[in-house]
Amino acid sequence: MSDNRLGLAGKFRYLAERARRIDIKSVAERAKEVHEQHGTWAPRAFADMLWSAARHDVAFQDYVDYDFAILTKDERATYMTHPVSMQLAARFAKKDKRVLFENKIEFNRVFDRFLKRDWLVVEAGNADAVQAFAERHGTIIAKVPVSHMGLGVRRYHAADVTDWAAFHRGLLERDELLLEEVIEQHADLAAVCPGTVNTTRVTAFFDGQDVHILAVAQKFGRGAVSDQMSYGGFYTMLHPEDGRAFGPGYDSHGHVHEKHPDTDFPIAAFRLPFFDDVKAFVKEVARVVPEVQYVGWDIVVTPEGPVLVEGNWGAGVYENKPSVTGIRTGHKPRYKAAIGF
Ligand SMILES: Nc1ncnc2c1ncn2[C@@H]1O[C@H](COP(=O)(O)OP(=O)(O)O)[C@@H](O)[C@H]1O
Ligand SMILES: [Mg+2]
Repeated sequence: MSDNRLGLAGKFRYLAERARRIDIKSVAERAKEVHEQHGTWAPRAFADMLWSAARHDVAFQDYVDYDFAILTKDERATYMTHPVSMQLAARFAKKDKRVLFENKIEFNRVFDRFLKRDWLVVEAGNADAVQAFAERHGTIIAKVPVSHMGLGVRRYHAADVTDWAAFHRGLLERDELLLEEVIEQHADLAAVCPGTVNTTRVTAFFDGQDVHILAVAQKFGRGAVSDQMSYGGFYTMLHPEDGRAFGPGYDSHGHVHEKHPDTDFPIAAFRLPFFDDVKAFVKEVARVVPEVQYVGWDIVVTPEGPVLVEGNWGAGVYENKPSVTGIRTGHKPRYKAAIGF
């Protein structure tokens, strides 16, 4: 059907209806999940999810992830949610500076002194430099500079490459233009998952004078190149005072991990080493681009201390999951105290 025949009003009605249909379906699915996990009558969960979204800025996935079905109104009010985080991000990131965070090459240029590793940009004609870089490091990480859904990270071994011209051409074709040396993580992180470099997500706010640490999450991978959930990863929150885990790990797909499935490490017993250094480090990096005040920093603790992976100006939300940890309060009071909203 052409645009003309449907007419503008008709087109809007069609789009609105479509949006409504998609949303209703996903709410219904999540209400079923809530029913299966907590025994809440599904229609009740369904209505509550719609109400919470409209009235309290709670995304449907937030409602599921943070077990809103078993929380009181006051307990719910302590939780950060994705819509609230998106509003903060929009308010506290100057539009023309966002690209410094969105594009990983731009980011590495600006934050080079905090990366503490070798990196290289793939360009037309630099196959020799790519070969030398890969052979120097053995294994390398290749990144799509502006990637979506956290899926633009790959791992390559120099020993597997026979034709360097073809390898170089492949990187250009797949837009894997940023190469990095593999970060060496601290033994305490490797003890949980040695096959993936496990990052710590520190969400922070720079008020122009001071940097406030709002929330700290420890992500763990499953042996893949990335610790993101799209690669099977999960997380646990860390106490912002001492870097100790709040409890077991979990993801947004209903999995709970008392122990890391590959090493049996008890997640609740994890404590991040160099925690004071991590906080001091974040307080330093958060001042580099003062026009972007609210950022989710991905850092890795190495045997020598923290190094920077990336900063996310559209910081996601990592929260404590009550059914897993038994703790029924979130981090929103810290956000409110620091940011004043
Ligand atoms: N240089 C590196 N060495 C080892 N692992 C890395 C490196 N860079 C990224 N990773 C892994 O890949 C994950 C995703 O990388 P990141 O640059 O944060 O991209 P995104 O989060 O946008 O997918 C990190 O959390 C980490 O697990
Ligand atoms: Mg990241």
